Amino acid sequence: AIDYDKVDEHTKFLIFPISVIGCGKTTTSQTLTNLFPETWGHIQNDDITGKDKSQLIKKSLELLAKQEMKCVIVDRNNHQFRERKQLFEWLDELKEDYLAYDTNIKVIGISFAPYDKLSKIRDITMQRVIKRGNNHQSIKLDELGEKKVIGIMSGFLKRYQPLNIDKSPDNMFDLMIELDFNEIDSSLTNVKQILNEIHRAYPILMPEIPTDDKIDEAFRKSLEYKPTVRKI
Ligand code: GTP
Repeated sequence: AIDYDKVDEHTKFLIFPISVIGCGKTTTSQTLTNLFPETWGHIQNDDITGKDKSQLIKKSLELLAKQEMKCVIVDRNNHQFRERKQLFEWLDELKEDYLAYDTNIKVIGISFAPYDKLSKIRDITMQRVIKRGNNHQSIKLDELGEKKVIGIMSGFLKRYQPLNIDKSPDNMFDLMIELDFNEIDSSLTNVKQILNEIHRAYPILMPEIPTDDKIDEAFRKSLEYKPTVRKI
């Protein structure tokens, strides 16, 4: 029998965020992949343009199947339970199309938007997304206008179903990292917390935490990130 609890050097990891728009998922993910370019990958839902929504997990598994790859961040908001459930269902259904049947996968959740900070999150993310301007695959300020962008973001905030660790699907994560939300350089703080918690839970994935200088450099680089795909 396969012992799914066992974590060893063959174990692979997926990260599913729980978030609303503009909380810094992409910036945080880019910082992490800048730190571990060979072993960590990042697939963005915003880069997927076709009709088949499960391409998100297919591309993630395809990347994770590469021998050197250890951890792939599946970058989507997943702000509702049904989206989180869908990711677990796709994973179950599609895993063996990409990875050997006995590959052990651990799923790490990252909650970006604590419910008690939602009004602050609203203010800061709206400012940030307006400032981001056209520098996004689908939310382009010049084309949509400020009012529409605010409308899209408000919709996410209204529908948001925060982490509920006591019930399905949120009780299916192997590890849950609950981030706080700080105004200044929240993604830098996020990355440091993520590195610490993964190091503690899965030292095999992260035997050593990178130095603060390395983290700062990776973060600065990620703030300059510009998407390459255009999604209408
Ligand atoms: P969506 O994909 O639209 O849901 O957004 P996201 O959650 O991926 O957020 P993203 O990383 O794109 O961040 C939104 C904007 O805020 C971008 O312009 C980032 O450069 C900026 N940003 C993110 N984190 C930080 C931070 O810690 N400090 C500063 N100064 N800007 C940040």
